Amino acid sequence: MSADQVEIAEHYDRVVDALTGRGLLLGSYDAAGKANLMTIGWGALGSIWSLPMWIVLVRPSRYTYECIEHSGCFTVNVPSEAMSMACATCGSVSGRDVDKFAKVQLTPERAGNVLAPVVAECPIVYECQVVHSNDVMPAKLADEILGGAYVDGDFHRVYYGRVLAARAAADAGEQLA
Ligand SMILES: Cc1cc2nc3c(=O)[nH]c(=O)nc-3n(C[C@H](O)[C@H](O)[C@H](O)COP(=O)(O)O)c2cc1C
Repeated sequence: MSADQVEIAEHYDRVVDALTGRGLLLGSYDAAGKANLMTIGWGALGSIWSLPMWIVLVRPSRYTYECIEHSGCFTVNVPSEAMSMACATCGSVSGRDVDKFAKVQLTPERAGNVLAPVVAECPIVYECQVVHSNDVMPAKLADEILGGAYVDGDFHRVYYGRVLAARAAADAGEQLA
């Protein structure tokens, strides 16, 4: 991807549209160095401790959980509408069983600032270093969320990823329109 460094607020509306629609692609490496992708629909991009931050929620059952616990970092990749099928696949099969990059025919590239892969074809990518994590606390959760999102337990770990780099293709706006 030919890309330029951008501020996190750039393309914000379109990033949130993708997050709440087809999903975003969370990239990580496993302990053996295999690149994995997981679709996320829950997350937040903002500022915490005066640092640019992506907050993502990953259930312990996900292979991605093992990967982030091992590597301490991840990437958030914003797919175009044309990658919707890839998002569906990366959100329904596990990297434990499948090489998802190969399956969805996307290209992993080593991120410049963290030990995690970026998706070469994605118009916007963020490179994130975990600076904090905590687990969802059932006793502190509103009943309507507890009964909806956690009928099987598997309470998310919430990762706070400091955004070390954010890049967008020159035509990111058109690709995400
Ligand atoms: C649109 C969409 C959004 C999703 N959002 C999340 C999420 O925010 N957190 C999570 O733990 N799983 C989420 N999932 C489920 C994972 O993507 C799915 O379980 C995936 O197969 C896990 O892959 P892994 O085992 O390779 O990590 C989502 C799935 C879809 C289809």
